[in-house]
Amino acid sequence: MLCRLSLSFFWGRGLWPLRNKAHENVTGTLALSVFTAVLGSLEFGYNIGVINAPQKGDYNATWMYRYGEPIPTGTLTSLWSLSVAIFSIGGMLSSFCVGFVCASFRRKAMLINNLFAFIGGSLMGMSKLCRSFEMMILGRFVIGAYCGLASGLTPMYVGEIAPTSLRGALGTLHQLAIVTGILFAQVLGLESLLGSEHLWPVLLGLTVVPTVLQMALLPFCPESPRFLYIGCVILRQEVGDMLAEMKEEKRRMDMERKVSIPELFRSSLYRQPIIIAILLQLSQQLSGINAIFYYSTSIFMKAGVQSPVYATIGAGVVNCAFTVVSLFLVERTGRRTLHMLGLGGMCICAVIMTVALALLVSNMLSIFGFVAFFEVGPGPIPWFFVAELFSQGPRPAAMAVAGFSNWTANFIIGMCFQYVADLCGPYVFLIFAALLLFFLIFTFFRVPETRGKTFDQIAANFHQHSAGGMMDMDMSIGMGMDIDKPSTEMDYL
Ligand code: GLC
Repeated sequence: MLCRLSLSFFWGRGLWPLRNKAHENVTGTLALSVFTAVLGSLEFGYNIGVINAPQKGDYNATWMYRYGEPIPTGTLTSLWSLSVAIFSIGGMLSSFCVGFVCASFRRKAMLINNLFAFIGGSLMGMSKLCRSFEMMILGRFVIGAYCGLASGLTPMYVGEIAPTSLRGALGTLHQLAIVTGILFAQVLGLESLLGSEHLWPVLLGLTVVPTVLQMALLPFCPESPRFLYIGCVILRQEVGDMLAEMKEEKRRMDMERKVSIPELFRSSLYRQPIIIAILLQLSQQLSGINAIFYYSTSIFMKAGVQSPVYATIGAGVVNCAFTVVSLFLVERTGRRTLHMLGLGGMCICAVIMTVALALLVSNMLSIFGFVAFFEVGPGPIPWFFVAELFSQGPRPAAMAVAGFSNWTANFIIGMCFQYVADLCGPYVFLIFAALLLFFLIFTFFRVPETRGKTFDQIAANFHQHSAGGMMDMDMSIGMGMDIDKPSTEMDYL
């Protein structure tokens, strides 16, 4: 009953139904639920962008107050690096727990996760007042833990409530909210706004605003109907195609045990999709995008740009604009094509950036191009693609593994880029170009197209191929062929 109610809220005729191209009803409840869920992504992005602004100088003031002498340069660098990097450690640890956290709830898990945001935001916001960099470091860790959970929970919830024909477009909203959060933080972090010595605690504390809004709105959002139905509720009556699809998914779930993380790798059923999921996450992070976002100011300075701070904001605007482009293309062009287009474009831009850096000519356009191509594919697609590759049973474990891979790679780039850049000089982006080429080839040969397919059709295709042996699977999935052909119920019954 609960599920029927929730289902008709999302896909029935709501109070103010909008119509999309596929003549699918998007109810007010669906819009509200997606908006509420992606507030978590907004907060995630805000905390990626905000750390550029707070001033290291404050750590020095605290040190002076405590010990009566200036902080040694080495200590300052270590404390600051720790403040930046510990965010990813929080994310790595918590993203690994996504499977466990959402085993019993989706919406409630998001509600409870807000507690982390509240604690993290308060610790950071109060750290200056309490003259404590320990509070700042702890706050970054806790907010990182929030973001790690949000990066798994949001795409999963949105993917489960979205109608099949809009799953990619609505999934892209997660990334759109992240990039909007980054842009907000970049603009508010300007010294003339909240990035000043006195106001930066407000900038850090502002992160609790989306938290409060999400906590207020979540009680009005239904639990994921797919999760309710497949997880716990027995239904008596059908409500359209979606229900038929969920019934089929449930039938499969009844035959499918709940899958643990080690099983994802042991079982030939899941090995192929989990490798694809991990490689897609790595393609996002090892593309080098965060080398730009974490070190934008110094990169723009080396690129001969006059006002690096404004160039950074420019990159943020390009970032947002091209995520919107992807939003409109993803249901037409497909995930696989857009991902390859993005990787290929980034690879070319990385080579141009290298040449420009080596010749000491201005290369702002190639940096903007790099960011634009990222948002066409590698930015938004990996986040929701993982939820698409797996059925209800293995999905939470797969999201945990994928999230962990993403956060670990993010951490490695954050920690190592500066050292590698010092070592390689202007040629550092050639490493990313080589990696991008590798991921492009991998996507071409291994990644299937999932556009317009139900979760069950996608999973069934992998199952079919794994039953048919690795050789068959490699060949057909590799070229994105079988999964792309129109499937009927007969394909998987
Ligand atoms: C993606 C990445 C994140 C990156 C952002 C840039 O969301 O996961 O690490 O900073 O895109 O737009």
